[in-house]
Amino acid sequence: MPRSNPVFACSACGGETLKWQGRCPLCGEWDTLEARTGPASRARTPSSAASGAAPRPLAGAGGLQRLATGQQELDRVFGGGIVQGSVTLLGGDPGIGKSTLLLQVAAHVAAGGAVLYASGEESVEQIGLRARRLGVGTGDSLAVVAESDLETILGLAAERRVALLVVDSIQTVQSAGVAASAGGVSQLRECTAELVRFAKASGTAILIIGHVTKEGAIAGPRVLEHLVDTVLYFESEAGSRYRIVRGTKNRFGAVNELGFFAMAEGGLKEVRNPSAIFLSRASEPAAGSIVTVTREGGRPLLIELQGLVDRMRFGAPRRIAQGLDSNRVAMLLAVLNRHASVSLQEHDVFVNVVGGLQISETACDLPVVMALASSLQDRIVPNSLVAFGELGLTGEVRPVAYGEERLREAHKQGFKAAIVPKENAPRKPLEGLTVIVVARVSEALEAALAGRA
Ligand code: TYD
Ligand code: MG
Repeated sequence: MPRSNPVFACSACGGETLKWQGRCPLCGEWDTLEARTGPASRARTPSSAASGAAPRPLAGAGGLQRLATGQQELDRVFGGGIVQGSVTLLGGDPGIGKSTLLLQVAAHVAAGGAVLYASGEESVEQIGLRARRLGVGTGDSLAVVAESDLETILGLAAERRVALLVVDSIQTVQSAGVAASAGGVSQLRECTAELVRFAKASGTAILIIGHVTKEGAIAGPRVLEHLVDTVLYFESEAGSRYRIVRGTKNRFGAVNELGFFAMAEGGLKEVRNPSAIFLSRASEPAAGSIVTVTREGGRPLLIELQGLVDRMRFGAPRRIAQGLDSNRVAMLLAVLNRHASVSLQEHDVFVNVVGGLQISETACDLPVVMALASSLQDRIVPNSLVAFGELGLTGEVRPVAYGEERLREAHKQGFKAAIVPKENAPRKPLEGLTVIVVARVSEALEAALAGRA
């Protein structure tokens, strides 16, 4: 008979080791390892009677039932509404509007079925106050409970046969079955797994609010993101009333979709045509500023990029990028130096995406170098001009996807000129929009920097 070796499990992080130690080698907590006998290997006999595992013809599968959230921008991020029986994690900074958004969604879904909003953060009175402010939740089908015990919450959800369960927040719920404190890693993991099991067994859609750490990830292990079907992040720039919901994982739709909202007196209102919401359109053009058309989130968005270069005072030059990958910016500085004779080796360099958007596509390469050259030489880029394009290490300007769509959006927003990669020249000219095609970074800078500031 095989001897089952004991393994030692950490009560804080849930990790396992084969050797007892005073300190968990995985999370660094002291005195948390406990012996656990490894599961004896069970002899398994093939069985076809297992319920739920019966094969079905593929042809009949794939019809997903979705719940509309009441806001098309949010439906878009979900891939067309919340899938029944799916589990979604919504992360975001405190005060950004997570509870507000999900209360609005809960109230909308409640018009067509029972909904339970379980909060371990606020009292029923506080939630009621918010609902009154939002002007929602007047019917009986939206029930609210201030509860942090997971079994009680699931019991209520099962009893009321809810279509949607909102858990606010995962850090405040705890399961009696897990001997660790609420918010601890094993509680987070077990509670999320329990919610997933409940969702799959009952067909209830579950929305879970998660707090984020300083680094911006949902607090707790990455494993939470692996357990759920959909992960959404709420983003915003400090002081801005605009909010962006970004899908970073979606088993039922495209990832990196963006939904745009504005925080108003009556809660979060969707922004239907967000393509130009971040453009302030300062009347006077300024050196270091340029508008680009990005395609974050599956549609074109006009964004202002700002660059500032300043003579370095001491130490090593600083390279600070807000909303862009700073390694990419460092690469662009090298391209500028080698292929456009613009040297910033003795300058501090700052780049900012106005509006708090995080941009990961390379189409911003060209406008970033234009903004930096503009700031360095104190020459303006006309404010009726947009630019996009990727830069290669040899100084060539490379085409980007959806060039024509970007140009059409710039045209629609009244821009008069565009500097784009040669291969992105539009097949049909757009009336009133002069398109300047470029092949090299030096050419592009020459075309962009028109006049002195
Ligand atoms: P909240 O949803 O409580 O944030 P979170 O759950 O992410 O911590 O939102 C809090 C902020 O939203 C608060 O500063 C007030 C503001 N707010 C409005 O501006 N209008 C509204 O209608 C509501 C309900 C909140
Ligand atoms: Mg909240």
